[in-house]
Amino acid sequence: MSVTRAPRKLYVKSYGCQMNVYDSQRMADVLAREGYVETATPEDADVLVLNTCHIREKAAEKVYSELGRLRVLKQEAARDGRRLTVAVAGCVAQAEGEEIIRRAPVVDLVVGPQSYHRLPDLVARAAVEGRVVDTEFPAEDKFDHLAAPTRAATRSRGAAAFVTVQEGCDKFCTFCVVPYTRGAEFSRPVAKILAEVEDLVAAGVKEIRLIGQNVNAWHGEGPDGGAWTLARLLYRLAEVPGVARLRYTTSHPRDMDDALIAAHRDLPALMPQLHLPVQSGSNRILDAMNRKHDRAEYLRVIERLKTARPDIAMSSDFIVGFPGETEQDFSDTLALVDAVGFASAYSFKYSPRPGTPAADSDDQVSEAEKAERLARLQARIDHHAAAFNAATVGRTTQVLFEGTGRHDGQMTGKSPWMQAVQVMAPPSVKGEIHAVRITGTGTNSLYGALVVANGSAPLRHDGPDHGTTPDPALPGVPDPAVRAASGGH
Ligand code: 5AD
Ligand code: SF4
Repeated sequence: MSVTRAPRKLYVKSYGCQMNVYDSQRMADVLAREGYVETATPEDADVLVLNTCHIREKAAEKVYSELGRLRVLKQEAARDGRRLTVAVAGCVAQAEGEEIIRRAPVVDLVVGPQSYHRLPDLVARAAVEGRVVDTEFPAEDKFDHLAAPTRAATRSRGAAAFVTVQEGCDKFCTFCVVPYTRGAEFSRPVAKILAEVEDLVAAGVKEIRLIGQNVNAWHGEGPDGGAWTLARLLYRLAEVPGVARLRYTTSHPRDMDDALIAAHRDLPALMPQLHLPVQSGSNRILDAMNRKHDRAEYLRVIERLKTARPDIAMSSDFIVGFPGETEQDFSDTLALVDAVGFASAYSFKYSPRPGTPAADSDDQVSEAEKAERLARLQARIDHHAAAFNAATVGRTTQVLFEGTGRHDGQMTGKSPWMQAVQVMAPPSVKGEIHAVRITGTGTNSLYGALVVANGSAPLRHDGPDHGTTPDPALPGVPDPAVRAASGGH
């Protein structure tokens, strides 16, 4: 009689950017081929992976405190006669390698982002040899060896899917570790991307989010052997039947070329929202950051984008307290925020990263000053975000439903502008795009009601956060519904 072994269980915790979310999924897919199933509870896991982020010191330190907690989990597993293999992946693994093994005895395996395709082998080796470190930048393309997700795995991950098209960065901003942890720019070829997108769409995915550290610098090999631009790739992907929405992130202002801006004009599936980090509004600081563009050039890019797609919503990243930043530099940043009126933005205190040029500057800004500037910047960003959200109240827009909402009977989805929308709707809307009339704004989401064909709203939201008075005629605000209605989905 044969004995069937219970499947081994995998728990992956992802920190940091969307690239890590994608990589975590690929790790799960590659281990699924070896019989691992994902578990949502770390206590059950046979293999536990922390997919880490090194972008700021806080993010990196989180890993060590988590590893401290995992010691207990590993001891408990051992008491039950189970072996728990703890792996550290991602950018902390790449940057610190052996150091992690020294600092955290709980760790069995350290694996850098370029070696995920070797995970099954590395996990097996760690079981036999003890502690293993693999942070090579191998010559082979890891994407050629990473497993595709099963249809079931794709379905469980929702209606919007990430596709990594580009990895690494050659820009060397003076504050940033990415060129060191993720290496030089690498662009995946068109055929591979197309095949992955077609598989995702066949499994029910409606929205494709192309990701890369410097995604608009993508220049992958086309079927003809020549290099394609991101614009050309987007035009091609928009032709794939079933692709209702396209987005790409994260972009560098220097790589927003004319063709890419024209794609925003021509492709209804390309959503009217763009994350375009600027980091600072001061020319002096932009120069010290080695951003390779000034304030006026950034504003000019946005102007061209708005001409191409008037309802485009901009988002950005900012760093406050970069070495040498004066109060005047900081007010230039606030003025830029006001000039653009970002729909959303992330802001961070400058965090010196070992090995980057800015970390060595003796002109560091005090923690207190950074905290004070961050609070002022965030208040300004929140003000513009609230204004943007309020301007959508009373309008009808298309929502791609992703899953159950905050309250009973609610489903949640995303507007074309990446706003979360909570709607009273049946569970069957999951994975579908429906017209929704926006009825109010909350702290982190909008509220809306499904619109039926005759224009009435049969399902009303009655959640607690409901409140902004609908005002369909706000002056000076482009009508998002106009574009959304012609939005091809
Ligand atoms: N300190 C603070 N913020 C940083 N970022 C990148 N490196 C640092 C750093 N050393 C921010 C930038 C980037 C975002 C992903 O993280 O704003 O766009
Ligand atoms: Fe880092 Fe982005 Fe600058 Fe590249 S372009 S070095 S990823 S901040």
